[in-house]
Amino acid sequence: MELTTHPGLEQLAADEVLALAPKGVLRAEVRPDGLRGWVSVWGDWPAIEQAARRLRAVHHLFRPLDRFVLDAAEPLAQVEARLAALAIPALEPEGVSFGVRCERTGSHPFTSEDVGRVAGAGVRSRTLRAVNLRHPDVALRVDVREQICRVSLALTAEPLSHRHQRPYLPGVSMKASLAWAMLHLARPQGAPGAVLDPLCGGGTILLEAGALWPAARLLGSDLDGERVAGTSANLVANGLLPRATLRQGDALDLTALWGDQAPVDTVVTNPPFGKQVGKGLDLRRFYRELLQSLLPVLAEGGRIALLAERRAAFTHALEQVPALRLRHVRVVEAGGLHPAIFLLERA
Ligand SMILES: C[S@@+](CC[C@H](N)C(=O)[O-])C[C@H]1O[C@@H](n2cnc3c(N)ncnc32)[C@H](O)[C@@H]1O
Repeated sequence: MELTTHPGLEQLAADEVLALAPKGVLRAEVRPDGLRGWVSVWGDWPAIEQAARRLRAVHHLFRPLDRFVLDAAEPLAQVEARLAALAIPALEPEGVSFGVRCERTGSHPFTSEDVGRVAGAGVRSRTLRAVNLRHPDVALRVDVREQICRVSLALTAEPLSHRHQRPYLPGVSMKASLAWAMLHLARPQGAPGAVLDPLCGGGTILLEAGALWPAARLLGSDLDGERVAGTSANLVANGLLPRATLRQGDALDLTALWGDQAPVDTVVTNPPFGKQVGKGLDLRRFYRELLQSLLPVLAEGGRIALLAERRAAFTHALEQVPALRLRHVRVVEAGGLHPAIFLLERA
């Protein structure tokens, strides 16, 4: 089976599948053929599939169908011929539609659209099924990386990371899989007393923490009242509001906002990111003031997992707060950017 995740989280996804199906998995390989964000898993298919549907680091599951080295002279004709020769049982029933999505990396004399087009033509020459690119019954994926071409069948229609009810969905929100990775890195053994997100946005981190740790208190705040109300609606939709306390307020003054709940053992959060960072915001200063604001509410030995887009600025800010020790840094890809999860511990 093949799994996809955020580039940077492949090893966490591989470790997760090994932990969920220790007897079923023979081997897991991260970035097969150099494909960023992919993990290949070998072993007992039913055991892996059952475990895979419970994975929290993963977006989609795939069944590998074909893999070949691209022909240097006629690569597109070869892709079409390979797809035409492929028996795909899921396409046998009358009336099913299919779609092909292609991702390509490397230097090629063709585009990913070209590959999708010839792959689709290859499938149709064999089955004559209707093409539906938006909502296909059978979703095929063709990945070209340098000279390697891989063909897979999607086993998931919706990403596994779409696991929470979210009546409130602000424009930029984190995927549950990335929230899980931050929570897992902060508390690999689980069971914190409380999780605080002082920049809670639409509440993804709190939703994931609530699902993961049934006994943890959920504390969330945001400067923007609409976000606080939205997080509340999302927590209600997932039955988590009774365990949560939500407040509107400034993350740079947490003693005033959360002093009554201190000390908190776990903080997981992501400061403004990408387009959310307005021209006036000095992120280096914001990071430093945020860390200084967190210190008085954080328990001794307490942990912070924070996603920082400007890694150098964050490292600089951290140097100004010696009471926080850096435990781990992991660069991930999210929304076309390359932030890092920084794991900190209060000395
Ligand atoms: C990247 S978003 C958080 C997204 C959230 N983790 C989610 O997945 O939905 C950053 C949030 O920080 C909030 N924010 C920005 N400056 C703040 C401040 N000084 N105090 C509290 N919240 C702030 C913004 O309103 C925004 O909701």
